[in-house]
Amino acid sequence: MTPITTIEDLRVLARKRIPKALFDYVDGGSYDENTLRANRAEFNNLTLRQRVLVDTSTRDLSTTLLGEKVAMPIALAPTGMTGLMHGNGEMLAARAAEKRGLKFCLSTLSINTIEEVAGACEKPIWYQLYVFKDRAFARQMIERAKATGVSCLFLTVDLPYRGQRHADIKNGLTVPPRMTMRNAWDMTTKVFWWKSLIGKRHSFGNLETYLGGSTGPVKQGSWASRNSDQSLTWRDLDWIRAQWGGKIVLKGIMDVEDAKRAASEGVDGIVVSNHGGRQLDCASGTMAVLPHIVDAVGDRLEVLLDSGVRSGHDIYKALALGAKGVLIGRAFLYGLAAMGEKGVDSAIEVLRESFDNAMILTGVTKVSDISRDNLYKAPLKN
Ligand code: FNR
Repeated sequence: MTPITTIEDLRVLARKRIPKALFDYVDGGSYDENTLRANRAEFNNLTLRQRVLVDTSTRDLSTTLLGEKVAMPIALAPTGMTGLMHGNGEMLAARAAEKRGLKFCLSTLSINTIEEVAGACEKPIWYQLYVFKDRAFARQMIERAKATGVSCLFLTVDLPYRGQRHADIKNGLTVPPRMTMRNAWDMTTKVFWWKSLIGKRHSFGNLETYLGGSTGPVKQGSWASRNSDQSLTWRDLDWIRAQWGGKIVLKGIMDVEDAKRAASEGVDGIVVSNHGGRQLDCASGTMAVLPHIVDAVGDRLEVLLDSGVRSGHDIYKALALGAKGVLIGRAFLYGLAAMGEKGVDSAIEVLRESFDNAMILTGVTKVSDISRDNLYKAPLKN
């Protein structure tokens, strides 16, 4: 097989190996995908300052994220239905992350349960919470997160309602799923994929425990969409924090005013995120808003960033604009879909190698030394 040297290599392989409906679900963005493209464009707009004749023979890529030591400034983002890309997908990805000294954040809408994933790891995982109208679910999930030793709760706040992805509707990836002759045939041809799924769980593990084992994915999915809650506000944060009592991060902050509010609420961190271009279409790319948010609240809480990270150079640029670290979503999902746990490890290696290379060629030996000075045209402080 040709060596994997880019995330795009994994993407191409994933496209060949999993059904089209699942690939499009991972790959796509909402509506006209303006924000999906903006995320990449904002990274590409920034250039790094090449520096020479600096001793970079010893380098340290490690840092801390939310108080935990990590081997490099990335973590695996929460992504729904990951266990359909490869059987036991969440457990495999969490293990691959842990072996590399990184954190894994489990989605509420995972296929493996929180207990299975926490059980597959030696160190605590992070857990991402969606709060539905049925608040008893959030209460139960918080209790389960505590019982399984989760070290940080990520409350996703940018999904009061799902952004529409046209391809999902056309492919029948709806609730309930629509099986067409075309996608039935497509699935039977993806031999690597269905072999990887044999004997594994195929429904939303966390919902299964809550709703009862007999429900199945269609009922679970329609429960989740029926229960999406547009009435959630800042006031609910108190309730969630009282139930949880541990570290909490708000995921999906894209505005300075919201960032300031998050800081005044005393949360531990925020993720500057537009959900990988899957929610509000025509929102800015995350890198355009990052420096403004860092200037406003960076000294009061930890600022992470996601959406569009595909290389170590992207990681470097996010750190240069003040992010403490980045989350990667599709980058690891392509790897998982392409080659299971090995593919996730490959994705991490692609990012590690190029991040290390960017450090050497910009004359930096430790992560904390990366700053706006390393960008050729750093955006001005506002
Ligand atoms: C997501 N994302 C997401 N976020 C979240 O808080 N809960 C979830 O269940 C999901 N599900 C999900 C599924 C898929 C297929 C993708 C691609 C993304 C968003 C995710 O956490 C993260 O914000 C983005 O993936 C970051 O963008 P990149 O790295 O994918 O470009």
